[in-house]
Amino acid sequence: MPSPSRAVAVEKSGTAARYLPQNPSDWTLVEIKKRAARCRACPLYKLGTQTVFGEGSPHARIVMVGEQPGGQEDVQGRPFVGPAGKLLDRALAEAGIDRADIYLTNTVKHFKWVGAGRRRLNKKANAREIAACRPWLEAELAIIKPGIVVALGATAAQALLGKTFRVTQARGRPFRDTRWAPLVFATVHPSSILRAFTEDRTSAFARFVADLKAVRSHL
Ligand code: URA
Repeated sequence: MPSPSRAVAVEKSGTAARYLPQNPSDWTLVEIKKRAARCRACPLYKLGTQTVFGEGSPHARIVMVGEQPGGQEDVQGRPFVGPAGKLLDRALAEAGIDRADIYLTNTVKHFKWVGAGRRRLNKKANAREIAACRPWLEAELAIIKPGIVVALGATAAQALLGKTFRVTQARGRPFRDTRWAPLVFATVHPSSILRAFTEDRTSAFARFVADLKAVRSHL
C-alpha cells in the first residue's frame, strides 16, 4: 500500500494541480488561464482545439459553472458561445442578470467529442477527467471569491455539492456557507432545455428563468 505522501504525489500528478503556481497568493486569472492553455493533466487536450478557460471579471459576484465546452466553444476558445450559451443569454436577460456581471466557466475545460461522419458529437467527460480538471475550477473560485456560485446541470452540481446531489430535487434553492461561496445554487443545464420536446421547452425555459431570478434576489 502506498504511504500517504506517495498517495498525494500520485493524485497530484494525475490532476492539473501541478500547473498552478505553488503559492496561491501568486494566482491571478490571467496567469492561470495562461497555464491552463498548456494543461495535459488528462488526455482531452489531444481532442480539443484549445483549452476553453472561464471568462469574466475577477470581481464578479456570481460565478456560473457549466459542464464542458461544446464544438463552438472549442473553436472560439470561449465558454457558452454556442446554442446553449445563446439560450443562457436569453434566460439571463429575462432574469435581469447582466452577463457582464458574471464569470462563466466549466467543470471541464476541454471539448470531448466522438466523430460521426464529419460531425463532432459531444461526449460526457468521465470521473477521471473531471477530477483532473478540478484544480482549475478551484483556483478560479479561490481567486474570484464570489458571493454566489451557480451550478448549471448535474456535472457542475455534483462537482460542487457532492456526487449524490440531485438537481431535480434541489434546484433553485440556496445552499449556504459552502467552501466555494456563501451561497451555491444549482439549476438545469441550458442544453437540457434545448433537448426538451418542443411542447415542454417553454415551461422548462420559464423554470430556468425562475431559478435565475431566485439567484438574482440574493444579490
Ligand atoms: N455547455 C457547457 O456546459 N459549457 C459551455 O461552455 C457550452 C456548452
